[in-house]
Amino acid sequence: MHRVIAPKILYFGTPVVLISTMNEDGSMNLAPISSVWWLDQTGVVGLGTRSQTFANMQRSKECVLSLPSVDQVAAVDRLALTTGSNPVPNYKLAMNFRHVRDKFDEAGLTALPSELVRPPRVMECPIQLEARVASIHLVGNPDDHSASVELRIVRVHADESLIDTQNRHHISPDRWRPLIMSFLGFYGLGEQIHTSRLAEVF
Ligand SMILES: Cc1cc2nc3c(=O)[nH]c(=O)nc-3n(C[C@H](O)[C@H](O)[C@H](O)COP(=O)(O)O)c2cc1C
Repeated sequence: MHRVIAPKILYFGTPVVLISTMNEDGSMNLAPISSVWWLDQTGVVGLGTRSQTFANMQRSKECVLSLPSVDQVAAVDRLALTTGSNPVPNYKLAMNFRHVRDKFDEAGLTALPSELVRPPRVMECPIQLEARVASIHLVGNPDDHSASVELRIVRVHADESLIDTQNRHHISPDRWRPLIMSFLGFYGLGEQIHTSRLAEVF
């Protein structure tokens, strides 16, 4: 038996990503998001257009996506309700957001230089993706202030412990424990539950 409902959000469960970008003055910004999906070497992120991250990506056309595992959940949560924007936009003030200039310090995370782009990687995150902005599209209604940002992944860094022992360019899904946000709660993944016929042909 199903019932028609009108949920305010449709956050059915996606990985958390920390996006680092460069501010106009050369300092760095870091923000958690969880609206993200992948296709081939492309990543698409959903962003509020009034965030510092969006302004930085629009201007500099580059970023790093650092993927936290479940082990970094406390650091991610320390970044909630913070913004690199100064002054803090009114709609965020109303939600108790505060400006934080150094979000790496706030989270207790370490900035690691990237190889192909200016924004730094997050050292503690087991997967780090250097990326360039390919396109930006506004989504929804104008007063949603939302955009999808298409990113070309130009370099992938993976923690040694996640790399498949047979194929050194593969990440082992049995070892990779992504941090998942589902309806505003933090979760991990369980064990593999079924063999995959798609995996046989790829
Ligand atoms: C776990 C988590 C997931 C989030 N997911 C998103 C998201 O997918 N898109 C988005 O625009 N904001 C998301 N936010 C809110 C942003 O982090 C927030 O707007 C932040 O102020 C952006 O920082 P900035 O203004 O320095 O760019 C999320 C926050 C948290 C804590």
